[in-house]
Amino acid sequence: MNTSDLQSEIRALLRERKGILLAHYYQREEVQDIADFLGDSLALSIEAARTEAEVIVFAGVHFMAESASILSPDKTVLLPHLDAGCPLADKVTPAALEKARQQYPDAAVVTYINSSAEIKAHSDICCTSSNAVKVVNSLQDARQILMIPDGNLARYVARLTDKEIIPWDGYCPFHHFMQPEEVARSKAEHPDALFIAHPECNAAVLEMADFVGSTAAMIQFCKTTEAKKIIVGTEIGIMTPLKKQNPEKIFISPSKSLLCHTMKMITLENILESLKKMMPVVKVPEAIRIPAKRALDRMLAVR
Ligand code: 13P
Repeated sequence: MNTSDLQSEIRALLRERKGILLAHYYQREEVQDIADFLGDSLALSIEAARTEAEVIVFAGVHFMAESASILSPDKTVLLPHLDAGCPLADKVTPAALEKARQQYPDAAVVTYINSSAEIKAHSDICCTSSNAVKVVNSLQDARQILMIPDGNLARYVARLTDKEIIPWDGYCPFHHFMQPEEVARSKAEHPDALFIAHPECNAAVLEMADFVGSTAAMIQFCKTTEAKKIIVGTEIGIMTPLKKQNPEKIFISPSKSLLCHTMKMITLENILESLKKMMPVVKVPEAIRIPAKRALDRMLAVR
């Protein structure tokens, strides 16, 4: 079946099943093109919480589908490829978190949404890259904050808050391993370009950035900036909305490493298969879902 036939069949089945397709900006272009809603992690969880659809097909990675299941337990949440995980989410285990809690008994635990439901259940509050500073500052009674599992995001937030931040040692491989030398080379090749970066990048790269923000914030920045050329320090999938929304601007990727293989595991073929068979379903057990929801709800209440 060709791309447009697959897309039409998916849209028809979504209508039949009263379903919606939620997609992250790192998804393949042909998947983004037929999504009902496209967003960063925060916007996707808000949408998952408020949709009236009966079925949510998640074109993203496992923690995103889990968050949808936590927030919308009555809906059927489908993740078309169960191996589409997030290597960053795997950088913390409940046992390691428990040990850290004992080491820092006064610290509040702020958990990046890129984490398992079980870790969320053991957390005080969640955050995403678009609200991390606000979330940390909202914790009026906490002076010390243990931020898990992304050390780069934690160190970035530490620069923007008066609280004491204890970073975890996790990282997203493709953001973390982007080298400042690669950015420098790109800047030298395009001296008139701005450089924007995701807070999961390492500190040396963030130091070089003209703007740092979540995927949605980067997209907004590119829409409003006068600059005509922008070097984009995040996963290559973001080029799809950037180019579509700004056909007159030039976007450059500074590094070959900016490719998230698990995000790309979701294809039109497995979305269609998943809708036909109504599987694989992601469902978080109630004993984990309820405390995990508390941490997500606390985050969603921070404005
Ligand atoms: P955003 O919330 O900025 O979309 O980030 C998601 C993510 O997984 C980055 O690697």
